[in-house]
Amino acid sequence: MCGIVGAVGFISPKEYVFKGLKMLDYRGYDSAGVAYFNNGIQIYKDVGSVEHLLSIVPETINTNIMIGHTRWATHGAPTKLNTHPHLSFNKKICIVHNGVIENYKELKRFLLEKKYSFYGETDTEIIANLLEYYYLEKGNVIDAIKMIILLVKGSYAFTFFTSDDANTLYAIKKASPLVIGLGNGFNLVASDASPMIEYTNEFIELDDLEFGVVKKDKVVIYNKDGEEVKKETISKDVELISHDLKGYPHYMIKEIEEIPQTVKRLISTYFQKGKYQFDPELIDDLKESDHIIFIACGTSYHAGLVGGRYFEKYNKSASRFIASEWAFHPTYPGKKPFIIMISQSGETADLIHCLKIIKENNLKNLIITNTGGSTLDRNSMYSLLLHSGVEVSVASTKAYVAQVTLLAMLAASLSKDVSLIDDLMDSLDVVYDIQNHYKPLIMRVANKIKDKKNLFYLGRSFDYFLSLEASLKLKEISYIHSEAIPGGELKHGPIALIEKGIPVIVFITDPETASSMRGNIEEVKSRGAKVYTIATKKLSRPEDTIIVEDYAYYLSSVAVSSIAFYLAYYVALSKGLNVDKPRNLAKSVTVE
Ligand code: AGP
Repeated sequence: MCGIVGAVGFISPKEYVFKGLKMLDYRGYDSAGVAYFNNGIQIYKDVGSVEHLLSIVPETINTNIMIGHTRWATHGAPTKLNTHPHLSFNKKICIVHNGVIENYKELKRFLLEKKYSFYGETDTEIIANLLEYYYLEKGNVIDAIKMIILLVKGSYAFTFFTSDDANTLYAIKKASPLVIGLGNGFNLVASDASPMIEYTNEFIELDDLEFGVVKKDKVVIYNKDGEEVKKETISKDVELISHDLKGYPHYMIKEIEEIPQTVKRLISTYFQKGKYQFDPELIDDLKESDHIIFIACGTSYHAGLVGGRYFEKYNKSASRFIASEWAFHPTYPGKKPFIIMISQSGETADLIHCLKIIKENNLKNLIITNTGGSTLDRNSMYSLLLHSGVEVSVASTKAYVAQVTLLAMLAASLSKDVSLIDDLMDSLDVVYDIQNHYKPLIMRVANKIKDKKNLFYLGRSFDYFLSLEASLKLKEISYIHSEAIPGGELKHGPIALIEKGIPVIVFITDPETASSMRGNIEEVKSRGAKVYTIATKKLSRPEDTIIVEDYAYYLSSVAVSSIAFYLAYYVALSKGLNVDKPRNLAKSVTVE
């Protein structure tokens, strides 16, 4: 949600800022804006796309400094006035912001008393004015920033410049990522490194309560007290943060097809010379704990459901919680609980809230994330990266498979069970088979269900966990109402909804539950449902829709999740929907 880009001293800040905004648009936004200095501060902003914004800015922009923003509305409606950048009352400060200011009402009251007035409804405009107030009072920007850090509660990544200095960008950070890119004769700012990789591979990541003074040939980082901080520069693996579509029409299908390489990369990272390669202290802490608590949201929560089973298999009891539920009623089963948080983005606000509670209670914890340098990565006790490469499509696919794979490897490492690795490789054969031979068949199913209003997924055990994920994926991008039901629960209520023609998609890949699932199929068929069955060879019947080779049944989420992902993709495609950026959704949900 929301994206920031900024450039100073660059040959063409406009080119960088607009390319950067396009690259960040996967995070989700409803309005976009840019500001630069040329005979004073110039701001262009509007509701709508970055393409629309580009059409309203001058063709040639002569400037040394520029900031840009994509906004996903939180405080205040998505209107032109509320769109960033924001300008202070006396037109001294021009700012963009990611995050949420918790005490903005109190700060606004203070400014109203000082005779400030406001044109919009955003918390960001308050900060523009607070910065201006202290800038004018103290006579310099550094002291004004120190006051902001002291007074402002909440999360923020601010980037701003002043009307008095067209050569300096300022970047302030707390609980919302902000990265500085170092160039030759220019320097850049962005909310993640991806917009900058075309221009540099040298970065500084700001830590919380730090700020950067960014000029074209110099970057100085300060702590909250205004003392200079020496920071390491880091470089990033270009391939892993690239947004190149590589010839695919959409990120979602590209990312589905990257599943095998994602799994293989995890194996080569965390399993070498016949041994699992995890931090021994992490493994000791996991072994010593008597209960594993999984906390996550959405797809990552679904991965946690599977992960819980993996730990149970190795005699660790486990609980699973949705982050936004746990945050308000935290429970800690066991005497020595260990918390595993899962988040593709590492920036999910609900989970960051949980981490705060986890730390207050001194609980041992691990984050499994795809985003190195993210808030959860930096602030958790242990972190394991998914190394999946950036996931752009809002609908998470390869990251889900990576989460499940990594959880399986971590659990297996507790008992040094290396048979998992062969099982994973076998399940990849199934994935390749699906990619190479099953897409036309999945497209046919997609065509049959695309005009339906309601649909059900059925499964038991691992197949139920997979059904939950399949159902979420379909509803996210095709807007078809879909529910996943454990086969055994059908007769306890949901069967009342089964009527003639309703599609029911059934997974039968678990030998333990296969015969019960066949019973469920008869129940829904006899009430008129149109059943599509996905089964493994040994458990299949001739009438099944998709029959795949056998694999270790506990790896369904690796082996056959692609079928569910392709199905959602083809349904959305055939409905002419925006596959990668479905309505109302953002890639990283950075507000609670
Ligand atoms: C996945 O398709 C969804 N877009 C969503 O449920 C997502 O998994 C959820 O918001 C959690 O995000 P995270 O993994 O980045 O924490």
